[in-house]
Amino acid sequence: MSDSKPLTHAGSEPEEHVLEAALRPRNLDDFVGQSRVRQQLSLVLEAAKIRERSADHVLLSGPPGLGKTTLSMIIAAEMNAPLRISSGPAIQHAGDLAAILSSLTEGEVLFLDEIHRMSRPAEEMLYMAMEDFRVDIVVGKGAGATAIPLDLPPFTLVGATTRAGLLPGPLRDRFGFTGHLEFYTVEELELVLRRSAMMLDLRVTSAAFSEIAGRSRGTPRIANRLLRRVRDWALVHKLEEIDAQSAAAALDMYEVDSKGLDRLDRSVLEALCLKFGGGPVGLSTLAIAVGEETETVETVAEPYLVREGLMGRTPRGRIAMPSAWKHLGIAMPKDAIFASAQSYENDED
Ligand SMILES: Nc1ncnc2c1ncn2[C@@H]1O[C@H](COP(=O)(O)OP(=O)(O)OP(=O)(O)O)[C@@H](O)[C@H]1O
Ligand SMILES: [Mg+2]
Repeated sequence: MSDSKPLTHAGSEPEEHVLEAALRPRNLDDFVGQSRVRQQLSLVLEAAKIRERSADHVLLSGPPGLGKTTLSMIIAAEMNAPLRISSGPAIQHAGDLAAILSSLTEGEVLFLDEIHRMSRPAEEMLYMAMEDFRVDIVVGKGAGATAIPLDLPPFTLVGATTRAGLLPGPLRDRFGFTGHLEFYTVEELELVLRRSAMMLDLRVTSAAFSEIAGRSRGTPRIANRLLRRVRDWALVHKLEEIDAQSAAAALDMYEVDSKGLDRLDRSVLEALCLKFGGGPVGLSTLAIAVGEETETVETVAEPYLVREGLMGRTPRGRIAMPSAWKHLGIAMPKDAIFASAQSYENDED
């Protein structure tokens, strides 16, 4: 494995991609957790099957690695329909989208990943395609340009985004169903891990499953990745069974801490606490301080840090919560935003 990429980042390397694909659940029943989205989606698909129509357009939003791509594949499989995959960044011109749309077959599922990164003209073409199953192909340029309407077969658009807030209202409104994926509980991640361990033919104790799950940042992709690293450790140490101690030792070695924070999370937290005295500090300043893109900090590190109660968002910027100092093992400075609350706590003991 390369050390250029923290283990708990949700993106993945090429060889790992193959394994990741192999571990993907293939139907809704195998899809762990997200019970509300699963139920609602199952109803949408069931009804479409009864009506013998293609399903309504579906928007899936949520942080990386929670199962958006997996769900889009499941939607196609459940509908018994072919799946076409593309993404917002790949569609820069309306023509790119027209080419895809005009070659769709009836009932096909079109998956557009990172749909918030599509260009404006393509987005406008998509509005009409989603609503009326029609596109206008523009032929010629300037005053002589004419629009030739083209009818499309009914299809289901599945859009995925890590940033639902960036989608323009008109686009969001054209989806018949929006599923927001939430971080998984430790118990749900244990189920994901059990299934993966079985597929990888590994012997793992229950305590080891919870040890790994607890460090997986609520994210199945990370859980699977940590399991593979623990598997490597067990292989090299010639262990027949993976127990909690060896799982913890392996993950400590890979710098995944007890709360599942990786190097990026920790550097964000350290910058917030040490360089900015706990904030408030603007997100882009924080991103520059850790040498990352604002989007990476916002979509990868921040949601988890906020969920864990380590970081707070205020109108004036990001702040370190008291537990951030505690987790880093650093004393909170007297002028930190929560210092008075902390001294209260200290008064009590
Ligand atoms: N509910 C689930 N049950 C079991 N495994 C899951 C589940 N959700 C995701 N996974 C596993 O996590 C991996 C990542 O999921 P997926 O690629 O669908 O995430 P994503 O939301 O599309 O992420 P990104 O935003 O980075 O594209 C999959 O390979 C799959 O093995
Ligand atoms: Mg994806």
